[in-house]
Amino acid sequence: MRRKLEKFVDPLPNLQPLKPDKKTGDGVHYEITMKQFKRKLHRDLPATTLWGYNGQFPGPMIEANRDEPVHVAWLNQLPNKHLLPVDVSIHGLEQLPIVRTVVHLHGIETKADSDGHPEAWYTNNFQETGPVFSRETFTYPNHQRGSLLWYHDHAMGITRLNVYAGLAGMYILRDEHEKLLNLPAGDYEIPLMITDRSLNADGSLFYPSQPDDAAKNLPNPSILPAYNGDTIIVNGKAWPFLEVEPRKYRFRILNASNTRSYQLQLDSNINFQQIGSDGGLLRHPVEIEKIGFQPAERIDVIIDFSKAAGQSILLKNDLGPDADPNDDTGDIMQFRVTKSLKNKDRSHLPQTLSVIPSLKQNDISGIRYLKLVGSADEFDRPLLLLNNKHWHDPITENPQLGTTEIWAFTNTTNFSHPIHIHLVQFQVLEHQPFDLEQYNQDGKIIFTGPPEAPAANHRGWKDTIEVPAATITRVIAKFAPYSGEFVWHCHILEHEDYDMMRPYMVADDDKNNTKF
Ligand code: C2O
Ligand code: CU
Ligand code: CU
Repeated sequence: MRRKLEKFVDPLPNLQPLKPDKKTGDGVHYEITMKQFKRKLHRDLPATTLWGYNGQFPGPMIEANRDEPVHVAWLNQLPNKHLLPVDVSIHGLEQLPIVRTVVHLHGIETKADSDGHPEAWYTNNFQETGPVFSRETFTYPNHQRGSLLWYHDHAMGITRLNVYAGLAGMYILRDEHEKLLNLPAGDYEIPLMITDRSLNADGSLFYPSQPDDAAKNLPNPSILPAYNGDTIIVNGKAWPFLEVEPRKYRFRILNASNTRSYQLQLDSNINFQQIGSDGGLLRHPVEIEKIGFQPAERIDVIIDFSKAAGQSILLKNDLGPDADPNDDTGDIMQFRVTKSLKNKDRSHLPQTLSVIPSLKQNDISGIRYLKLVGSADEFDRPLLLLNNKHWHDPITENPQLGTTEIWAFTNTTNFSHPIHIHLVQFQVLEHQPFDLEQYNQDGKIIFTGPPEAPAANHRGWKDTIEVPAATITRVIAKFAPYSGEFVWHCHILEHEDYDMMRPYMVADDDKNNTKF
């Protein structure tokens, strides 16, 4: 079905910030339209039909400034037929229009009605709308520190397919503190959206309509328990290359894949200097050889090419010793240090990047124990749940506005899940291993070791964290500055859609707050 593609033949697309439509006293305004379009993802492939914001993949990059609100009218002009096989057997989706969208800006602190609630979806031209109050124009206050955020579709039960079709883009929030640090900037600061897709020989997107080992009685199409594409796409090109100067560069990297996690590594003796995570700069740079990178996470790294003039350096995804030699996803992109140095590199990598107050100093209102659970549906398909609850069950997590809580994610499945909480940036306290076999026998949590501190590059602000199998991963968050209904979920999109997502309520009145 697929054709073997030559790697490193297309230059990396350079993403430029979108020009605002207007600036007014209340902020900056954009209008962005979701459309179907065609675009070449590789030199040797015919153009691929995609869905994209403003007909682009990745969507146009928005550059915002701290404390300057951004308003986006997200218009839907998509066709009424989906590009990919849609399973309507889950969540009673057969009642709903197939093509429905709603945009979520991942990592933003905004009011609930601008957050992109999964049931605040709408169709082409806003003709039909979901059961939760929906609007097309969202406001992002940007009262938070500089960081790389990203926007993507979030419509209930179909997020995996809408995002796979191309509905994702980046959003860089700038702040004054960061500007003063003199990090590599301008041509030397490069956003990278890493994702994976499978492509047919005619260029079209391939997404299976059923799992490989599908039983006969399965609905067709049927949702998959996970999906990894075989082709790595960076900024909309398969395995691109980038020519660089022998100097420091700053890369703002997003994992926009549905399921795939990466182990990023350079095939040279150069290490990454990681300076930021999901919610902005770390306290100090972390020198790191290999970076584990889960769906929806962002990393901010400096790579210093100054001693590599003339070399080609690969950004790799370490697949480990048992990797299949035909698996091409061990390569991501190539850097060619072939440009001559335009000007002396005067950028700086300071040893102190930012101040991050520990949330442990706050009064802690309580701990919520939240179990990640595997079960099965009536067709015997895997059905992953949070605390044994379905998406449509009543709200159970309802922190009081302004309070600080610990959420203890207890992973009773055999694999990692990247857990994401909307509205907040949290801090990771620890991961503690427990005996999964014992748990499976009698439901008891017996720890097999002491709590372990998070990795050095996870000690800043996070909104998505890997919860490894057979661990309790504890995070601490202050639920502010808005009350209302938000969601938390696994960011493997196939899990999020079925059914690893829950609404939660930031309550602004004592009455409907859980007592611990
Ligand atoms: Cu990337 Cu619910 O989010
Ligand atoms: Cu989010
Ligand atoms: Cu998951």
